[in-house]
Amino acid sequence: MTQSVLSDALSQYQNRINHYLQQQLEHLPEHAIGLKKAMQHGALLGGKRIRPFLVYSVGDMLGVPLEKLDVCAAAIECIHAYSLIHDDLPAMDDDELRRGQPTVHIAYDEATAILAGDALQTLAFEILSGKTEFSATQQLAMIQALAKAAGYLGMCGGQAIDLASTDKQIDLERLTQLHALKTGALISCSVELALIAADATNADRRSLVKYAQSLGLAFQVQDDILDITSSTEELGKPQGSDEESNKSTFPQLLGLQGAQQTAAQLIEDALSALAKLPYNTQLIEQFAQYIVARRV
Ligand code: IPE
Ligand code: IPE
Ligand code: MG
Ligand code: MG
Ligand code: MG
Repeated sequence: MTQSVLSDALSQYQNRINHYLQQQLEHLPEHAIGLKKAMQHGALLGGKRIRPFLVYSVGDMLGVPLEKLDVCAAAIECIHAYSLIHDDLPAMDDDELRRGQPTVHIAYDEATAILAGDALQTLAFEILSGKTEFSATQQLAMIQALAKAAGYLGMCGGQAIDLASTDKQIDLERLTQLHALKTGALISCSVELALIAADATNADRRSLVKYAQSLGLAFQVQDDILDITSSTEELGKPQGSDEESNKSTFPQLLGLQGAQQTAAQLIEDALSALAKLPYNTQLIEQFAQYIVARRV
C-alpha cells in the first residue's frame, strides 16, 4: 500500500463527516442564532477528523457500510468539538487560537462558548439515540460507551487530572493515566463504536481495543511533542502553550527524545496488536504510523 492510499482515505472520510455534520447543524432552527453559529464555528471549521476516520476505517474493515457509521462518526466528533471549546476557555487552557481561527470564546463570548460545548455534547447523544440503522441493543451500547468515554471515567476525568497536575511534578504512571483518560478514552471509543456496529467477535475486540489504547496514548504524547517542535502557523493553535502554562507533559517528564521514543514504542504496540486479525489491516497500520509522523 502506498502513502496515497492513506491520504485518499483521510480526505474521503474527512469530506464525508464534514458534509454530514454540516447537515446536522444546518437543520437546527434559528431561534438562538449566536449559539448556532458558535456551534458551527467549533464543529465545522477545520479539524483532522481522526476520530471519525477510526470509526469509518475500522467499521469498514469489519464489513459495516459507511452510511450506517455516519451517526457514530458524527457523535464522537461532536463530543470532541465540545471538549476543545471547553479546553480553550479561560478557566482551562486559556487559548485564543484553534484550527487557525479564534477560539469560540474569542469569536463569540465565554457564556456562548460554554453553551456551544454543552449543546454539541447533547447533540452527540441526540444523533446516537435517534433514527439509525442499528438495533436498539446496539444503540444503547453505543450511548453507554460514549457517555463513559466522555465523562468522569474518560475525558472529563482526564481534564480534571490535567488541571490538578499543572504547576506540579507528577510521575509517569499518573501522567499516563492523565493522557489515557483525557485523550485516549475518546480515541478508544471511536474504535469501540465500530466494534459495536459490527457486532465484533471477542477475539477481534481484544486486538482492536489494544490497538486503540496504544494509539490513543501515542496521539496525546505526539500532541505534547508538537507543542514544542511545531509552529503556531502549522498547528493552527498556540505553540508553546503547555510550557507557558507549566503543564505536565511527556516531554516535560522524559525530555523530547524520551517522549519521541515513548510515542514510537506505543505505535509498535498498536501495530503488534493487529498481527492476529484476519483482515486487511494495512490502512489502520498506516494510520498508526501517521499519528506519530504528523506535524499537525
Ligand atoms: C487536539 O485534538 C486535542 C487533543 C485531544 C490532543 P486533535 O489534534 O484531534 O484536534 P483537531 O480536531 O484535529 O483540531
Ligand atoms: C486536550 O489536551 C485534551 C482534550 C480533552 C480536549 P490539550 O489541551 O493538550 O489539547 P490542545 O493542545 O489544546 O489541542
Ligand atoms: Mg488542555
Ligand atoms: Mg489545550
Ligand atoms: Mg496539547
